[in-house]
Amino acid sequence: MNTNRRRLATSGTFLVALLAWGPNSLRSDTPVLTIDQQETFLRTAKIISAKGNKKGVTDTVRVTLTDGKITHDASVQRIYEHKQTYQLSSGTTILNFKDTYEDNIAAWKLARVLGLGDLLPPSVDRKYQGQSASFTWYIDDFQMDEGDRIAKKIQPPDQESWAKQINVMHVFDQLIYNWDSNATNLLIDKQWRIWLIDQSRSFRTDRSLQDPKMLSQCDRALLARLKTLDEATLTKALRPYVSKDEIKGLLARRDLIVKFFDAKGEGALFDRPLWH
Ligand SMILES: Nc1ncnc2c1ncn2[C@@H]1O[C@H](COP(=O)(O)OP(=O)(O)O)[C@@H](O)[C@H]1O
Ligand SMILES: [Mg+2]
Repeated sequence: MNTNRRRLATSGTFLVALLAWGPNSLRSDTPVLTIDQQETFLRTAKIISAKGNKKGVTDTVRVTLTDGKITHDASVQRIYEHKQTYQLSSGTTILNFKDTYEDNIAAWKLARVLGLGDLLPPSVDRKYQGQSASFTWYIDDFQMDEGDRIAKKIQPPDQESWAKQINVMHVFDQLIYNWDSNATNLLIDKQWRIWLIDQSRSFRTDRSLQDPKMLSQCDRALLARLKTLDEATLTKALRPYVSKDEIKGLLARRDLIVKFFDAKGEGALFDRPLWH
């Protein structure tokens, strides 16, 4: 069972008790859901309100959901675009451009296969106002995003733990070919855990890495899981959200990542902090 602590709305009584115990008691006494329960909640809880997200470009909506016992927010992304060519504001032209909510769901499913269920928030397939969409668990205890951190020149308190998390992110981004891995898609919570959101521009058919320079070090358990990936496992986990050719691309990139770290040897490996 995954016991990630994701804070949920609390009753008035609980809040009073909480204040009396002080902030350190917050996490240990807060109700938690397993990631399976979070997925069910996202899929089935009733939408009671909605507003726009403050940042971003694809018109995502922040909804509040309740199942009668728990109230929590989700980010709803409906983007579903495929274009032969697409010009970025930087002037770069992208061929076979796609930007789709389906990639958020696929990224989450892949994260689960790889044992990275504590690095991405759960994301499920659900209709919103008649449109297909991803519903993604809103990050608890949000502190700032990477853009804010850089702008305010705030250093993470534990540089080693931070570097490990960032290195795992780079491996994951290269694996899924996430070329939109920007500072507003890296969220930081109050424990200085990082959370990766918005993988809607990923899972391309490319068999080369998007930016091999980003690879530096890798978590041991992640590397071992990468080695076990095969077409059957990925087809079962990721279809219909990604195509067969996109799965082939992912496996080819996996081969390059494994080759890179096998060549670097033990010195490039570490054990990442686990949050459960
Ligand atoms: N699961 C989430 N938890 C907390 N904040 C989120 C979440 N999803 C989105 N946001 C906020 O909304 C912004 C826009 O959402 P995002 O999914 O990045 O869409 P886009 O950048 O394509 O518009 C994010 O940069 C972040 O500030
Ligand atoms: Mg974004």
